Amino acid sequence: MPQIAWSDTLSVSIPSIDVQHKALIAMINELDGAIYRRQSVIITGAIIEKLLMYAEHHFSYEEQCMEQCAFAHIETHRCQHDELRVKVKEFSIAFNNSVPGISEDLLEFLNLWLQNHILRSDKKYTSQFQVHNIA
Ligand SMILES: [Fe+2]
Repeated sequence: MPQIAWSDTLSVSIPSIDVQHKALIAMINELDGAIYRRQSVIITGAIIEKLLMYAEHHFSYEEQCMEQCAFAHIETHRCQHDELRVKVKEFSIAFNNSVPGISEDLLEFLNLWLQNHILRSDKKYTSQFQVHNIA
C-alpha cells in the first residue's frame, strides 16, 4: 500500500484535530512501512499500544468539543469511537496470541477508519466547531 501523504482532502479544517489525525496517519504509515520491510512483528505491538493511548486522548478531545457545542450527532459519533476502542483491544488480544496476518488486518482496518470515519463522520462537525471557535 502506498504511504499516505497529508493533503487538504484529509483536513477537517480544525487545526488542533488535524494535528491529532496526522499522528494517526504517521502510525498507519509506520505500520505499512514495517509490513513492506517484513518487520511488522517487531513494531505491531508498539503500534497497538500507541493506538490505545491515541484513541483515549483523541476521542476524549473530540467528544469534549462536541459536548461544548451540543453537536447533534454526538451519540452516533461516540458509538463509532467506541467501536474503534473495542476493535483495537481485540487486535491487542489477537497480537498477544500471535494470530497470523494481524499486522495486515490492522492496516486494512485503519485505512478503512480513515476513509469512513475521518473523511465522512468527522467532517460533519467542522462548521459547528468553527462557529464555537474551536480551533
Ligand atoms: Fe471522530
